Amino acid sequence: MFPSTENEPSGTPLRSRLGVLTKHPTIAIDGPAASGKTTVGRLLARRLEFQFLDTGLMYRALAWTAIRKGLSLSDGAALRQLASDETFEFTVQEGSASSDERDPRFYTPEVDSGASQVAQWPEVRTALVKQQRDIASKGSIVMVGRDIGTIVAPNADLKVFLVASPETRARRRMLQVGDEGGYGRILADIKQRDQRDTQRSHSPLVAADDAHKLDTEGMDVEQVVDRIICMIGAA
Ligand code: DC
Repeated sequence: MFPSTENEPSGTPLRSRLGVLTKHPTIAIDGPAASGKTTVGRLLARRLEFQFLDTGLMYRALAWTAIRKGLSLSDGAALRQLASDETFEFTVQEGSASSDERDPRFYTPEVDSGASQVAQWPEVRTALVKQQRDIASKGSIVMVGRDIGTIVAPNADLKVFLVASPETRARRRMLQVGDEGGYGRILADIKQRDQRDTQRSHSPLVAADDAHKLDTEGMDVEQVVDRIICMIGAA
């Protein structure tokens, strides 16, 4: 179906193919909750020897920190202040780049919901988008999120928008977190986050006009990454 990993060219020729386009290529991967962006993006970055940035982790870390400090998730100004804190920037960058393990603190139902609440505030988004662009300017990078292809990196060299039904995403997330009985709750949560992410007035989740929509139904992570690498070859 898709080329196997062994038959792929190694990371360097792929990197240089994108490098012909710009000095520091950016690959933008967007998609809804639990669409596999982070797993796919991290593996892709490793194969290309690019940096990796999970922007969702920034919103999650902000929500977690705000909850811990007792800040209201409705106080946009206080959240923006927190987002601009230097310690916060450093922690998130390190966590995103260095670890395959999901930090369990940032993946509780409370933080799932809190992250999508803090992400609604324009002042929070402005502060985090600025940090994301600064990080991207430093080198070749794979960035994953909701607004990478539209807002953060509208000139990205390749834009991919991952698509899968809410039911498929809920099944994958259920297996990932090992919560066999939790399908109904996880599905309801995904639908609620989809609604919040697509309907917020500031930077809603939407595919960029020039994004490649990739339906991942029935595909595993390796197959999705192989498919994106084929897109790079055609870029
Ligand atoms: O991708 P994720 O589930 O880890 O993202 C957590 C929340 O952060 C999600 O509800 C939407 C928000 N988010 C966003 O608004 N913009 C991004 N670029 C990344 C995430």
